[in-house]
Amino acid sequence: MPSITKFKNAITCGDCVKGLSTLPANSIDLVFADPPFNIGYDYDKYNDKQDDQAYLDWSKKWIAGVHRALKLNGTFWLAIGDDYAAELKTIATREVGFHCRSWVIWYYTFGVNCTRKFSRSHTHIFHFTKDAKEFTFNSEDIRVPSARQLVYGDKRANSKGRLPDDTWILRPQDLPEGFQPSDDTWYFPRVAGTFKERAGFHGCQMPEQLLGRIIRVSSNEGDTVLDPFTGSGSTLMVAKKLNRTWMGFELSKDYAKEARKRLDKTKEGDPLTGPADPLSSAPNTANGRRLEDRRASKNKKVPQECAASLFENQQ
Ligand SMILES: C[S@@+](CC[C@H](N)C(=O)[O-])C[C@H]1O[C@@H](n2cnc3c(N)ncnc32)[C@H](O)[C@@H]1O
Repeated sequence: MPSITKFKNAITCGDCVKGLSTLPANSIDLVFADPPFNIGYDYDKYNDKQDDQAYLDWSKKWIAGVHRALKLNGTFWLAIGDDYAAELKTIATREVGFHCRSWVIWYYTFGVNCTRKFSRSHTHIFHFTKDAKEFTFNSEDIRVPSARQLVYGDKRANSKGRLPDDTWILRPQDLPEGFQPSDDTWYFPRVAGTFKERAGFHGCQMPEQLLGRIIRVSSNEGDTVLDPFTGSGSTLMVAKKLNRTWMGFELSKDYAKEARKRLDKTKEGDPLTGPADPLSSAPNTANGRRLEDRRASKNKKVPQECAASLFENQQ
């Protein structure tokens, strides 16, 4: 019987397909996976330009490994780009046996500007469960104020708010302090190159606030959260901050080493980084620049799009 102990609160360097097969079956509460999208991204070790069929075959292997490792009431969240979203959903549900609860669209700002097509500003995030009925879903922990409460002042509104929609934008009515008609409204931004949150060694770092929502709703304190594609270690940091047991696999020695350093500096109970509050608009850049500074210096209002592309050009 394989032991899980050595994987707990650790990042294991190596292939996750092998790692997952080494874990005891039915042992993990929550898996969040943000695999390579097969779009030719320049990773340290992994070749992100596989033949289509090879990528799909490999995806089936690790998704089956996730299914095996999850507890019977376990949950699997998968972030994936446009190119393979439909295929990976089919593999996960029809071939491996997961149940799809939600197909979430994460809308982000600070995507890369395109000139001859619409600039991509979303990623697909699937919410799968191993069992169709038994799974953790802490809706109370992720409720947002409703438009009835905030916009219409309707007395019949539930004072506890409502569940977010499956298109994840923190809209003005989701965060009342943020709604000022003349101001920028802030959504979950991508962790762009100049943001203070960015660890600096990995280009695909996920924002902590987004991971916080997933970990809060699909696990409880003390549960085990696994990220098979650790990258910069953000999932594991958020899991640790939220008092979960965490574990990760990562192919690259260098990424694993840097991610471990981030985890060492993170303490249980630390607050999540990043703009939960859109009033703060663009998060501070590492050198402290904000849209407000630019406005002040030019003594005129700058549209958010201008600021976004200024930041983007600095990457
Ligand atoms: C999209 S990135 C993950 C980024 C991560 N979510 C974050 O917030 O930093 C994918 C990662 O998977 C790693 N990887 C690729 N193939 C792997 C494999 N077979 N086993 C483990 N890790 C792998 C890559 O080195 C890369 O760091």
